[in-house]
Amino acid sequence: MLMKILNKIITAVCLMAASVPVLSGKDYIVNAGSISLAVAAPEGGKLDFLYFGPSVDADGLIQLRQAGAVIGKEAYPEFGVNITSAIKALQVCHHDGNMTTDLTVDTVTESETDTYSLLRIRLKDKFYKFYVDVFYKGWKNSDVIETWTVLENREKKAVTVNRFDSGCIYLRSGDVWVSHFSGNWAAETSLTEEPLEPGILVVKNMEGARNAQHSHAEMMFSLDGKPEENHGRTIGAALCWSGNYELRVDTSGERDHVFMAGICPDASQYVIDPGKTFETPALAISYSGEGLGGVSRNFHRWARNGKIHNGWAVRDILLNSWEGVYFNVNEQGMEQMMSDIASMGGELFVMDDGWFGEKYPRNNDTSSLGDWKADPVKLPGGLKPLEDAARKYGIKFGIWVEPESTNSVSELFEEHPDWALQARNRDLVYGRGGTQLLLDLCNPEVQDYAFEVMDTLLTRYPGISYIKWDANASLLNYGSAWLPDDRQSHIYIDYHRGLEKLAKRIREAHPDVVMQACGGGGGRVNYGIMPEFDEFWVSDNTDALQRLFIQWGTSYFYPSNAMAQHVSADRNHQTGRVLPLKFRFDVAMTGRLGMEIQPMDMSDKDKQFAAKAIAQYKEIRPLVQTGNLYRLISPYDGKGVVSLSYVDDSKDNAILFAYKISHYVYQPIPRFRLAGLDPGKTYRFHELTLPDGTEPCSLEGKTVSGRILMDTGVEIPLETEYASRVFVLSEVKETL
Ligand code: DGJ
Repeated sequence: MLMKILNKIITAVCLMAASVPVLSGKDYIVNAGSISLAVAAPEGGKLDFLYFGPSVDADGLIQLRQAGAVIGKEAYPEFGVNITSAIKALQVCHHDGNMTTDLTVDTVTESETDTYSLLRIRLKDKFYKFYVDVFYKGWKNSDVIETWTVLENREKKAVTVNRFDSGCIYLRSGDVWVSHFSGNWAAETSLTEEPLEPGILVVKNMEGARNAQHSHAEMMFSLDGKPEENHGRTIGAALCWSGNYELRVDTSGERDHVFMAGICPDASQYVIDPGKTFETPALAISYSGEGLGGVSRNFHRWARNGKIHNGWAVRDILLNSWEGVYFNVNEQGMEQMMSDIASMGGELFVMDDGWFGEKYPRNNDTSSLGDWKADPVKLPGGLKPLEDAARKYGIKFGIWVEPESTNSVSELFEEHPDWALQARNRDLVYGRGGTQLLLDLCNPEVQDYAFEVMDTLLTRYPGISYIKWDANASLLNYGSAWLPDDRQSHIYIDYHRGLEKLAKRIREAHPDVVMQACGGGGGRVNYGIMPEFDEFWVSDNTDALQRLFIQWGTSYFYPSNAMAQHVSADRNHQTGRVLPLKFRFDVAMTGRLGMEIQPMDMSDKDKQFAAKAIAQYKEIRPLVQTGNLYRLISPYDGKGVVSLSYVDDSKDNAILFAYKISHYVYQPIPRFRLAGLDPGKTYRFHELTLPDGTEPCSLEGKTVSGRILMDTGVEIPLETEYASRVFVLSEVKETL
């Protein structure tokens, strides 16, 4: 009898559970757009990672458990008791020298705003008063979850943290592939795709000041075999940090790959004083069932919603003076360039390096950084005449600065030699020009100085509406005159905290100024600083052919309106290659279009073409700069052609770009299969950027359904080497 009653109660409870599933009380789900992450956080127990993928609710999580499809491994593994060979996210040396940590769940807090939900799990060491808050933030309007930690020392004395990852996720092993990036100056963001093999894959960057020239703090994982653009379950991860990093994938376990990412701990042991905390940067993660492209679009949306400044704004078309005149800046020359870009329809002129230095004029890269006063010989009237000239030509005016650096040949260094980073008892090591040194941004006085420089420029010259913030130095001299002896190991981290503070301060004081992050080319492409910047310089390599590769990789995580892409001279200054002007424009037009050329050297015919291309770009700019990117044919696939497109949210309009990058007789060229269109809609082709006297190709005016364009594809005539075509596809609306 008792058994019968008990069975009834159990059945009733089960039925209730089945009709209104609730979480077990220790399981937590964080939602972001159409994705979810789940953890188990039983009080007094371990925090376990359960799931990351498409949205699940409580019932879904129960079903995942039934299916044996939850992970159930430590969500923030610490180096502690019961040490396994698996990699760890945290390693702490407690005040008494104990190198082990043993964390269990203390409290869990859930909170919510209009834009995100936040889960905070407070872990506490079983013995020491050492706490770790693990955060998961789910953005409601983007399919991205951010995770990071705050380490808190309530022990009697200082503790030292030797490893401090931002977060950790697990991937069910199988045929999982990883996509990541390597490179060098003028060859950034080169894509590598490889299957995850047993062992530990590490992507690590130790450049110190910039972090995207040799590798990127981002990775994608294709869970269903070789990466595909528009199919397959894919996870992307980006560490939001401007300094050194380490991304690790451990494939030595039996069933799951574990991925961890954080600030690189090398030479960076961080001391946390009693009562103080240490916050790690966010690791942003996303999932899509639509392949690499799906994850890219998720990151682009998230970026536009707040991780780049003014993320939904379309950017101006500019002329930058660098490749046109290099250091040979002068008032008359700048005015001539302004007049030329204005006549071609441009909207902004940026005076690059070479405009400053009184005692030491900046005629080359060996001097003057830090002496931010206009060169009285080159610019006798200072910056005011340039502001006036820009106004006269109806365009905006921007300027180049490098506020984090100095040269040993400069008034700044003469006055403040201790402001440069320098290792004790060692000779200074110089960077660019044999004299460049990095300022010590760990030092608040130096931060104040750099703020004053920028603030004064922008306040005194309200006509400056754009700043190109360059960074041409790596961190070569590891020593800070400001940090105490026992805190020298904080340099790599405190430099970037100083940089973040500085950028935030300038951004707050000048919210409308457009800021470009430049790191001697693409060295500053990271989500650590991008929230304060509108765009970044993709690479110092402006060769349109190589740019196709560099821009392809960069677009994995970064949206088009953040990618500065310039048309340059027809014998390219980096590669010596000669490419048609149309090809150069068509490549630059896929992002934030600009020019970096001496217009005086252009023929009238080329200027006319540029004016036409700029006018047509203005028409498609909102869609190119804020639309949904679909990469179609990769330059890495060796097909001889490259293609990408942008589609608007309504799927009524698309822009299609196609390029021929190799050329020979009887060359098999694939059909161009589109993506992201509405299969039920019909689209009309209209070709852009045609040089005068050239007829549009046979596709002009043709109407084709989205289904055929996506399933079968379209033949695009690309007859010559470096041929390129740009089409607008507009839905053909039925008229009654
Ligand atoms: C490096 C940048 O990437 C270039 O575009 C240019 O601004 C130079 N620095 C100027 O020194």
